[in-house]
Amino acid sequence: MNQSDQVALVTGGAKGIGRGIVQYLAQQGWRVVFCDTDTQVGEELAQAGSGQLKFVPTDVAREPDVERLLQATLEWGGRLDAVINNAGIANPETGPIENLSLEDWQRRLDVNLTGPFLVTKHAVPHLKKSRGAIVNMASTRALQSEPDTEAYAATKGGLSR
Ligand SMILES: NC(=O)c1ccc[n+]([C@@H]2O[C@H](COP(=O)([O-])OP(=O)(O)OC[C@H]3O[C@@H](n4cnc5c(N)ncnc54)[C@H](O)[C@@H]3O)[C@@H](O)[C@H]2O)c1
Repeated sequence: MNQSDQVALVTGGAKGIGRGIVQYLAQQGWRVVFCDTDTQVGEELAQAGSGQLKFVPTDVAREPDVERLLQATLEWGGRLDAVINNAGIANPETGPIENLSLEDWQRRLDVNLTGPFLVTKHAVPHLKKSRGAIVNMASTRALQSEPDTEAYAATKGGLSR
């Protein structure tokens, strides 16, 4: 299959590593849907993509957002061949665990672990049709945590299992 027929979905694609993945895949001829919570930067990137990129504002921790993301992906692309679960709260530092609020712990789990679960859950039926693939962005901290990074390490450990 010609790569220009193939469609990839990249989460957290507006900035950082995800942005690089979006741009690389587009250079390779893929049509790329990407999502992010940073709507302004996402829309600016999509506008520079001359029709090859589609941006969908999404919080991957929210299932209604993820359902809308997959619906928009299929409407725009007609198929789905690859998912890159990249979106995450990438700063691992949350301070001493005795000061870590349940809210901050939970938000990291929701974004970094539940997010990839939700995207995978709603993408798999379409990936089965195309015999596509999923890439999960984990971290060395999945295997070896460090002080004050317990929440982040837990999410990456979960993701890599
Ligand atoms: N940077 C590193 O050294 C490093 C090392 C190992 C793993 N990683 C992992 O790689 C991925 C990307 O890291 P990065 O350094 O590019 O981070 P980054 O902060 O530069 O980019 C993350 C992107 O995800 C988006 N995002 C955050 N929460 C979101 C949500 N709820 N829904 C949708 N989008 C959301 C952000 O807006 C941002 O555009 C992360 O999963 C991170 O844990 C990074």
